Amino acid sequence: MKEAVRANFDESVTAYDAYERRTNRFTTLARLLRAEMARRTGAFDAILDAGAGTGISTRVFTDDENRTVALDLSHDMLREVADGEPVQGDFDALPFTDGAFDAVAFTASLFLTPEPEAAAREAARVLHPGGVVGAVAPLGWVQADGTDVFAELDRTSRSPADAGAVRTALESAFTVETGIWRFATTAEDVRRFHSIPAMAARLYPKLSTEERIDRANDLLAELDGTVEQRWRWVVGTA
Ligand SMILES: C[S@@+](CC[C@H](N)C(=O)[O-])C[C@H]1O[C@@H](n2cnc3c(N)ncnc32)[C@H](O)[C@@H]1O
Repeated sequence: MKEAVRANFDESVTAYDAYERRTNRFTTLARLLRAEMARRTGAFDAILDAGAGTGISTRVFTDDENRTVALDLSHDMLREVADGEPVQGDFDALPFTDGAFDAVAFTASLFLTPEPEAAAREAARVLHPGGVVGAVAPLGWVQADGTDVFAELDRTSRSPADAGAVRTALESAFTVETGIWRFATTAEDVRRFHSIPAMAARLYPKLSTEERIDRANDLLAELDGTVEQRWRWVVGTA
């Protein structure tokens, strides 16, 4: 499972960053998450960006004053990280000592592990007392008439853990607050999002990269107009 996630993200670098240049979505999510986390803890002297990808969230969490560690399973995503200290690793088994960080952030990453409870326990372990954890996880895409984009579509989705599982996992280790962020986007951007190999793999896990992207494009071909993308945020203190 994790090997598939790693391999899918290894081949997603170009499409992922192209999507971000167009939408700024992950930068926005990381900024909103940082603000929610800062409200609970003030300054971050040492922060772990857990599931840092190409470093979009790392850039948001890094400033002149702090130490930021960018951890990811995917070597190829991590190679793009320009800020902080890159570490290849699994957030379900963190290679850090107890109490090493003031903050642990999972920007669009915790929902990708089959064991979010393990990652939550690890986050609690590496946080010092009073530290803060934050996560954002996708709640899906909703059309103007209120229907979920994927409700009626034929796909073989494989989301190892959804936003509800992320919330439950963090609740098991932290005292949490949660909410929803909503973004108006377009049908075209829904198609672009699912042209990222790792995102198309959530619809058609068994197909080859090219086949799954073609299938995702076919699946979404008729989608039109404005679509709302929803993300759950969860912030907790130990
Ligand atoms: C959607 S990307 C988000 C990247 C970045 N946080 C951002 O906002 O652009 C999710 C990242 O989580 C990483 N990931 C998934 N499961 C992981 C795990 N168990 N340990 C570490 N990284 C993981 C993936 O390799 C991928 O780079």
